[in-house]
Amino acid sequence: MQSSPWWKEATIYQVYPRSFFDSNGDGEGDLPGITARLDYVQQLGVDAIWLSPFYTSPNKDGGYDVADPRGVDPRFGNLEDAKELITAAHQRSLRVIADIVPNHFSDQHHWFQAALKAPRGSKERARFHFYDANSDGTPPNNWISLFGGPSWTQVEDGQFYLHLFDSSQPDLNWENPEVSEDFEKTLRFWIDLGIDGFRIDVAHGLVKEDILKNHPDPQGLSDALRLDLAMDTEKRNALLLTVPYFDRQGVHEIYREWRKIFDSYIGRDIMAVAEAWVHPPVNATRYVRADELHQVFNFDLLTAEFTAKVLYDVIDRSIALNATVNALPTWALSNHDSPRVVSRIGQEQAGALALFVFGLPGSTYVFAGQELGLPDGELSDSDRQDPSFFRTKGVIKGRDGARVPLPWSGDATPFGFTTGKPWLPISQSWSQFTVKSELKNPKSSLHLYQNALKLRKEFMNGSGEITWVESPEHASKGQALLAYHRGSVTVFMNLTDITQECKVDGKLLIVSSGTVDAHNEMKVIPARSCAWFIA
Ligand code: NOJ
Repeated sequence: MQSSPWWKEATIYQVYPRSFFDSNGDGEGDLPGITARLDYVQQLGVDAIWLSPFYTSPNKDGGYDVADPRGVDPRFGNLEDAKELITAAHQRSLRVIADIVPNHFSDQHHWFQAALKAPRGSKERARFHFYDANSDGTPPNNWISLFGGPSWTQVEDGQFYLHLFDSSQPDLNWENPEVSEDFEKTLRFWIDLGIDGFRIDVAHGLVKEDILKNHPDPQGLSDALRLDLAMDTEKRNALLLTVPYFDRQGVHEIYREWRKIFDSYIGRDIMAVAEAWVHPPVNATRYVRADELHQVFNFDLLTAEFTAKVLYDVIDRSIALNATVNALPTWALSNHDSPRVVSRIGQEQAGALALFVFGLPGSTYVFAGQELGLPDGELSDSDRQDPSFFRTKGVIKGRDGARVPLPWSGDATPFGFTTGKPWLPISQSWSQFTVKSELKNPKSSLHLYQNALKLRKEFMNGSGEITWVESPEHASKGQALLAYHRGSVTVFMNLTDITQECKVDGKLLIVSSGTVDAHNEMKVIPARSCAWFIA
């Protein structure tokens, strides 16, 4: 069953273009490479692809440093290739979502180049956040970049500009109408080319408040914004309430205007999903009010421990919060910014969690390679390219491990990804994870994903709410098992390292790993596994 509109309960496959498939042997994936592998994507059973940026860019931050938002970077091909990709995807009933990066441009964008040449106070500088130094020569405030180091860089005439990320990513000034006009043009440009939706980068960051004020604990705040640092939850939460540059009320006005643009394309069902890391979690629902965006990412599962208590809390909360604004949640276990789920919680656990999540209401995002059960790539420091590695002088290793190219075929690295030298090395130990070898292995992660996505379409999409059967709050085994009913299906997940018996009247549809033993109503769920039963 297909939910209506299409994005409501879609499975959306995130493609990181540089790492997907290289069509021309230069060691980097490209748009024709994606087009060439669309049959694979279609056979996986997803509904849409989300393309991480492929725009003209010096590529200091994996393309999230955009020098021309309406142009294709030559490393990925050209505009014709983008059109062909969209057409080929549509022919296979796959929608295409593009990334839009409105918080900042690359310093190579012609606006910023003009701003550098223009005097202080000029209209060219007013498109960014340029300010004079303090009287003692220090930057206008003490904010720290999310990639480490100060969030201000000084230019020749002594002024500073703001960059929440790398110094090559100057933040745009959204109080300047020229900025919103330019983004409206960009949205229309891609929609006119056939794009079906947008993933909005740093959607919560566009509006800054108190820009000339120091934050009382900039280092604490910067640490709190990093998920990889252990920090006392109360301290983190208290600090997150004080961010002067995220989740300000003004961002919602911007998305209300964008929504009008999307809706003006009658019959196209253009959607947008916000990358909004906000606190407290209830704030995320503001982005999906009826006149704003369609979805907001829920990032909880990127960091959640594989325990019944934690998973129950985040899943139940996300469903409940979204329901308050009549929206459905989103689920993601991996993306290009975080460690791959297999490396974080384990191979079997990752398969179990994926199967558990595929049954839930809402949309699911799958990061390319997740379906193969890929772990993070092993890299040496000389391979790394993430700006956060350089800006922290190697203290933070960065996100390259999750971005290692996909292994497609053959017995030797680079496993068919390229005929050249891959931009990040692919370990020889990945021979078991190639698409080709997994297609041959009925017990592979790829088969699990293909089968699960078929069943999701058949039994789960559009089947309404879930009812918890086992949870820390609902039943006797709720520390060991999580289970819910949805439609005619019951989904059980065993979180422990030993088998667990459960009572369920129904026939096994799928199990993520191991074998389910059945004695009439009593079923034995393997350790670290998830199973679906149909009544
Ligand atoms: C979020 C993107 O997902 C990430 O990859 C990027 O570095 C930052 N936004 C800055 O654009």
